[in-house]
Amino acid sequence: MQEIKVELAKTRKDKPADAVLGFGKYFTDHMFLMNYGLEQGWHSPRIVPYGPFELDPSSMVLHYAQEIFEGMKAYRTPGGSIQLFRPEENARRMNSSCERMCIPKLDEDLFVEAVRKLAELEADWVPRSEGTSLYIRPFIIATDASLGVHASHTYLFSIICSPVGSYYAEGINPVKIFVESEDVRAVRGGTGFTKCGGNYAGSIRAGERAERQGYSQVLWLDGVERKYIEEVGSMNVMFKVAGKVVTPALTGSVLPGITRKSCIELMRSWGLEVEERLITAQELFDAMENGTLEEAWGTGTAAVISPIGEMGWEDKKRVINGGKIGPVSQRLYDELTGIQWGRIGDPFGWTVKVK
Ligand code: COI
Repeated sequence: MQEIKVELAKTRKDKPADAVLGFGKYFTDHMFLMNYGLEQGWHSPRIVPYGPFELDPSSMVLHYAQEIFEGMKAYRTPGGSIQLFRPEENARRMNSSCERMCIPKLDEDLFVEAVRKLAELEADWVPRSEGTSLYIRPFIIATDASLGVHASHTYLFSIICSPVGSYYAEGINPVKIFVESEDVRAVRGGTGFTKCGGNYAGSIRAGERAERQGYSQVLWLDGVERKYIEEVGSMNVMFKVAGKVVTPALTGSVLPGITRKSCIELMRSWGLEVEERLITAQELFDAMENGTLEEAWGTGTAAVISPIGEMGWEDKKRVINGGKIGPVSQRLYDELTGIQWGRIGDPFGWTVKVK
């Protein structure tokens, strides 16, 4: 594996109080960088002081959005050690995004080591209050100075870190979600299964419309028939209907969430039946109507477990589980965050020690 060089920052920033963290507003003292060139491949992995990039205005990423990213966290355990959650899954997904977006793949061991080493250096930035963590954002951008629509020949891989609290202002309290019928996020054959910035840029208009109506975010429908639910954009979704958990199948337009996968594994280990399949919005609203929809929640690295307390679709509005967190969401939250923050044992071997 290539050696990661370290250049320490000469000055250190003041750290924000945990109470004001929110999500993705503050950044740490250092960042990771690595370049790609046709002859050298991925080279010069290094940690340097955090700061702006110099980019040619014609850099391909700025025009054609050849860009991908990941989201992961470092957690502080009660004993004071720092740990990551399934970082090898992020490395694997990053390479799957690379493949779709014609970006040269990374050495997955180097990816994990870069995250680990940066988190180790920034250990003091991992906040201490309940529910807080250090969000880690690896990303790759195309840097060729060229306006031709082709794969770039040069890239920059960077990792930045941000101490965070809850993604949603609601925290663990249920959010309101609106089923979007006009805009679509992704179609099969497109880039929906990758973490590319373009997926998120296209989602902002519907998100803003939903926010104006008092919802936190939108639940996307499939782009072809506009009837199957897919994901929320910042999280995958799960529903408990008549005793069984159902979640949209990974058909190519849905992000293969690592929290989604972990929740499915956890629930199956408890003996709960979990079905990954096509689910129509109509089926969900029928289940709300006839009282068989017991719980709904979202899963994501940033969102963690986020109960859904109300759903809107066209002119319909339905409250779920009295607008309260349900027992499965609560147990998932307790066990998943218990493992992530090291409050309980890790029978699955999901955590990786940073220091
Ligand atoms: C994450 O959960 O890490 C994500 O990348 C979602 C994000 C758009 C906030």
